[in-house]
Amino acid sequence: MEVKRININDLAPGMLVADNVYNSANQLIVPRDVVLTDKAITRMRFHSISSARVYISDETAKKPAGPTPGKDNSREASFFEKLRGTEEFMAFNTDFEKSIPVFEQKLSAMLKGSADPDNDTLTGIVDDMFHSCRTGIQLFNLLHCMRNFDDVTFSHSMNVSLICGVLGTWLNRSKSEIEMLMQCGIYHDVGKLMIPKAILDKPGKLSPEEYALVKTHTTQGYNILKDRKLPREVKLAAMMHHERCDGSGYPMGLKGNQIEECAKILAIADVYEAMTSPRVYRKALCPFEVIRLFEIDGLALFDPVYLLPFMENITQSYVGNMVRLSDGTVGQIIFINKLAYSRPVVKMNENDYVDLSKESDRIVMEIL
Ligand SMILES: [Fe+2]
Repeated sequence: MEVKRININDLAPGMLVADNVYNSANQLIVPRDVVLTDKAITRMRFHSISSARVYISDETAKKPAGPTPGKDNSREASFFEKLRGTEEFMAFNTDFEKSIPVFEQKLSAMLKGSADPDNDTLTGIVDDMFHSCRTGIQLFNLLHCMRNFDDVTFSHSMNVSLICGVLGTWLNRSKSEIEMLMQCGIYHDVGKLMIPKAILDKPGKLSPEEYALVKTHTTQGYNILKDRKLPREVKLAAMMHHERCDGSGYPMGLKGNQIEECAKILAIADVYEAMTSPRVYRKALCPFEVIRLFEIDGLALFDPVYLLPFMENITQSYVGNMVRLSDGTVGQIIFINKLAYSRPVVKMNENDYVDLSKESDRIVMEIL
């Protein structure tokens, strides 16, 4: 049988994996000679794995590739495609594009000396964008539509800051706490400015040495920030935002309560942003797909105190929306299951209701 490298979008349950699949931290995600399942493919997506080598039988090779979401122009435009055509989105997009160079200039200036950052300008930018949106979820939706920037640091930092603001609101935090969380987002990856761009932008797997260098952005970020006039939480969030509750994170392998609250909240926003950003090898994931990834792999890594309200608020906001399921059928979300946020009850027609929490093979693929 032939072995071929297949893009994550074209991997399908039933395919036989030819090589061990590792994530960027060199952890084994799917072992070789295993038959792929929906869950294994989802795990790969969660770890940002772009492809896998699989055995191709003559039969498989002849099969046409599965439909690529977003490429079928004959169907109805999706919720996000429609939003992209609105004036609200265009105004938001223009503001965002204007802000990126300012963000870049102000953050880069911090590396050149020991002066305090222009915090007023940076927080002013995100604050204006944050308050230009009617609701938190509308902000998420607008971000979902627009992220096509090449830079890995500046637009990411602005997005994470905005998501932190929304999450702070959902967690019923005070105005000053929300502002502090948004500042954590602005500065959290400033240490990446010390890492060679060629490594940050490298499309393939990082070598162990390169990955070790990327991980230093946390301590380097803390060192850049530690003597500047910024809240203590902002400095600690830069240091701890890759720590995970089960101790699997870096740089110190801290667990649970050893991790600062602001870093735990920031970590959720950071990972959500990374998962919903379009990549070269995939379009932005549907919010229900992202929530499903958090349900599978996220509950041990992130503090449920912050993760559960996050998942609940995102999914609840789509009650009433039409959605396309993975088998191509279309229905309306009428109820979110508290024990399985990504698997709502969907009304297919007048007397036909589908509880996706009771089905293992159908998921929400697209919001219409
Ligand atoms: Fe980071």
